[in-house]
Amino acid sequence: MTTDAGPASDKVSAEEPDGLGLIHRPRRLRTTVATRALVRETRLSAEMLVYPLFVCDGSGVRREVSSMPGVHQLSVDEAVRETVAARDDGVRAVLLFGLPAHKDETGSAAADSTAPVQSAIRAIRDRLDDVTVITDVCLCEYTSHGHCGILDGDRILNDVTVGRLVETALSHAEAGAHIVAPSDMMDGRVGAIRRGLDGRGFEEVAIMSYAAKYCSAFYGPFRDAADSAPAFGDRRTHQMDPANVEEALREVELDLEEGADIVIVKPAMPYLDVIRRVKSTFQQPTAGYQVSGEYAMLKAAGHNGWIDEPRAMMESLTAIHRAGADIIITYYAREAARSLAGR
Ligand code: PBG
Repeated sequence: MTTDAGPASDKVSAEEPDGLGLIHRPRRLRTTVATRALVRETRLSAEMLVYPLFVCDGSGVRREVSSMPGVHQLSVDEAVRETVAARDDGVRAVLLFGLPAHKDETGSAAADSTAPVQSAIRAIRDRLDDVTVITDVCLCEYTSHGHCGILDGDRILNDVTVGRLVETALSHAEAGAHIVAPSDMMDGRVGAIRRGLDGRGFEEVAIMSYAAKYCSAFYGPFRDAADSAPAFGDRRTHQMDPANVEEALREVELDLEEGADIVIVKPAMPYLDVIRRVKSTFQQPTAGYQVSGEYAMLKAAGHNGWIDEPRAMMESLTAIHRAGADIIITYYAREAARSLAGR
């Protein structure tokens, strides 16, 4: 048998280092592939992966996002094809974002039953019965100014926005979404959506809330993909300050009290400590979102030959799971699922 352990006669000079004849040899359990697998503490599986899709109008559309190689804006028919292909790779959940044909000041297309997301939900559910359909609930893709809510001047009106978010979540539920995922960070929206869903008989539709969502530079490429960059200003009045973790715990606690079934920490890699604290504190289903900028960095470095991208991909996903995420939202879902299946 060949191992990388070195010759058996490789007696360490540190014999009897403690005078008892004992030497600690943690390397023993790293000797072979099988032993390393035996003692592995963290195991990824394809079932924990969620695959984000950007759905647009039209048919036969498959437009690559330049800052996210391998990620496309897809018309509904193509989104169905992509979901089928992802399911064949072993992915069991998709997260839908929409690119509406028309935007306006109040993001009214978000709650339009004929818009791309609502159509994609119906089409995917018609075609597949073993994939969880999750929808992003936010207005930034639907407003002409790119902000996550309805504005008064340059101020986002919290409670007015929540009303539109509830309508949006309801339209997703009516189309057949299993889970709605509010990503707007307005106060009180989880409770309002829960009451809205229950009031219309959608008690079984779950809420996966972006509970600890930071105001992050790592969302840059997403805003190309979803065409949702704010026309002025930024998102600092609702997304969290990257410096804070105690505040993340308060945000998560509030969302759980309001009825969230799953909580998301976002981004993932720069916030592994937050994922760990959230999981340890609440022991609730917890997701980490490996966002567009994290993906784009790995892609770019891999493309340049600066890192081994497939290894870096699996290492990053393993780290997010090890930190405490039960669920990982990642643009790498298909590639990772294939890698886990040995393909
Ligand atoms: C919508 C939303 C964003 C992301 C998910 N939902 C963008 C933002 O908050 O600006 C980012 C996802 C990513 O970067 O991959 N509000």
